[in-house]
Amino acid sequence: MNTPVEGFSKLTKTQKIDWIATHCTKDPKKTKQLLQQYWNSDPRVQQLHDEFIENTVSNYYLPFAIAPNFLINGELYAIPMAIEESSVVAAASKAAKFWLERGGFKAEIIGTEKVGQVHFIYKGAKEKLSDFFAAAKPELLKSVASITKNMEKRGGGINNIELRDLSDTIEGYHQLHCTFETLDAMGANFINSCLEEFAKTLKEQALAFDAFTEEEKDIEVVMSILSNYVPNCLVKAEVSCPISELGNTDMPAKAFAEKFVQAVNIAKAEPYRAVTHNKGIMNGIDAVVLATGNDFRAVEAGVHAYASKTGHYSSLTHAKIEDGIFKFWIEVPLALGTVGGLTTLHPLVKLALEILQNPTAKELMQVVAVAGLAQNFAAVRSLVTTGIQKGHMKMHLLNMLNQLGATESEKQQLVTFFKDQTVTNAAVKEALEKIKSE
Ligand code: MEV
Repeated sequence: MNTPVEGFSKLTKTQKIDWIATHCTKDPKKTKQLLQQYWNSDPRVQQLHDEFIENTVSNYYLPFAIAPNFLINGELYAIPMAIEESSVVAAASKAAKFWLERGGFKAEIIGTEKVGQVHFIYKGAKEKLSDFFAAAKPELLKSVASITKNMEKRGGGINNIELRDLSDTIEGYHQLHCTFETLDAMGANFINSCLEEFAKTLKEQALAFDAFTEEEKDIEVVMSILSNYVPNCLVKAEVSCPISELGNTDMPAKAFAEKFVQAVNIAKAEPYRAVTHNKGIMNGIDAVVLATGNDFRAVEAGVHAYASKTGHYSSLTHAKIEDGIFKFWIEVPLALGTVGGLTTLHPLVKLALEILQNPTAKELMQVVAVAGLAQNFAAVRSLVTTGIQKGHMKMHLLNMLNQLGATESEKQQLVTFFKDQTVTNAAVKEALEKIKSE
């Protein structure tokens, strides 16, 4: 049974490892070896990783892979992806190649607006709050001048501060709903610093506002924080081609196009399917977001909120056939950064950005949206033709063989054997046993 520990964060790394190994694992010696096995051989690199977070005891590896041949707005990209799921990178690469031969992907930025809010309670007269806000707004903006100075020099800063009355949901609940342009930065620290300053100034200004009663002056700020819901930080990516060019899809082109559109329509209509459909999109999006050092939890939260913006959880992609043209597109909110945070710290993140030709945040938004669209194309294409398992199990074969303890030569023999055989757990086990017994 695990026991509480006092002052764990104050222990040295070795002490932390000792504690976790002896208190939480059956074989402390093996645990220590395993944790150390994943340390970087260069102590400076290891220290860098140790210092990303707290209480670090080792590194957690994910594969870092490349999906090449993405033609986006006429530029060729090799897209770095960090993901554990077999068949995602293969599917992305296959979709990239397919669309490379059909004009590639087109992507456009619809907006780059970020959001943050100061949530506060004011239970006084409504007109007085509006008057107060009109008078306080210039002071609010002035109060963050030192924070916004550099961002403004580069063309960003605060877009607007709006007073919002939400007192019909919670008694007295109001917001300063603030919008920002953070350029190539994801902007979380910038936005949160501005918001905390706004909150302070809001309270100070309220205390000095003569028209308020003593009670009204006492505005209660509940919290100040950015929102990961960014419906106006939006990117669109699309592919299109004449139906006749949709050959090579394991079924006649017209039947394929119609079945594909039907599958997307099902995901638009029905939440159980929509969630899985969007999960497939996030396979592509998260992998690039993670490889480029961005916050995939923020992206996930914002994307799924966007998928339910009508009050009904729905597909992030859309497809149609019009005048013989098949068109497939995605619209997705992505608050990403290509400067600051991990982008300047993590060596592989820096490399991922270099592989992408050091994109601006807008360019990265386009690449990420395309990765999501490509992934969805590959998944839906498999689903409406061969089914998903054929390709997936083939890609998963090495994992299965590793789990079963196959040697290198056994792996080679079985990869060849399963080239034209159906891969299932039972079939792989049986084939491996057969080789071993020979
Ligand atoms: C698996 O990770 C993703 C899929 O389930 C997506 C989909 O069903 O569209 C294949």
